[in-house]
Amino acid sequence: MKKVVISASSLPAGRNMSSQIEYLNRVQNYGADMYHFDVMDGSYTRYQSIDYTYIEQLREKSVLLFDTHLMVNEPDKVVSKYIKYGSDIITFHIEVLQEDKILQLIKKIKKAGKMVGLAVDLNTDIEQIDKYLDKINMVLIMSVQTGKTGQEFDKSALKKIKHVRNLNKDILIEVDGGINDKTAPQCIRAGADILVSGSYIYNNDVYDAVQNLKGKNG
Ligand code: DX5
Ligand code: ZN
Repeated sequence: MKKVVISASSLPAGRNMSSQIEYLNRVQNYGADMYHFDVMDGSYTRYQSIDYTYIEQLREKSVLLFDTHLMVNEPDKVVSKYIKYGSDIITFHIEVLQEDKILQLIKKIKKAGKMVGLAVDLNTDIEQIDKYLDKINMVLIMSVQTGKTGQEFDKSALKKIKHVRNLNKDILIEVDGGINDKTAPQCIRAGADILVSGSYIYNNDVYDAVQNLKGKNG
């Protein structure tokens, strides 16, 4: 049986550095596989969140894979910082750039030796990703509208996961938003490999929450 990977979202821990350090330590001690840096610029999204300066400080404190989700309008302007300060996977949104710029940015991230993901927001047609699938390592499927933690899972994500999985057996599929012990198994059955979790892990005992999310796929 395929193992599922849990990526704990940074968003519930807010913008205070000591809260971020405390939370990162907690999730890494209690079973999360990756730390999901939710970067919001206050332009693509309504609110702003943490940026690369946090990654710079947290990198030396952690052995977890750093999974950076850039919810920003100009990922091409900031990506070098995320490469430099220790992201392992860098994901940007398909909605914010034209095709030629998307292709350039994919190349740049790969050339730097990082994994590259493309994210599809809740109201974006999944077919838009098809032509990029052979060029990227991961597809991030949003199951809520980007911008805040604690929203309810939208089942349309399950169809999108299946669409990608049918086209490509090997690509990593990450799902993000409203993941809990009920929605996690649905995503795993549909073909997801990586589950991002914000409020479910943050508001529960971390160890129990991670085990519940992994279920039989732990
Ligand atoms: C939303 C972020 C998510 C979010 C997940 O814009 O990309 O990563 O923090 O939080 P929950 O799991 O609470 O929906
Ligand atoms: Zn995210």
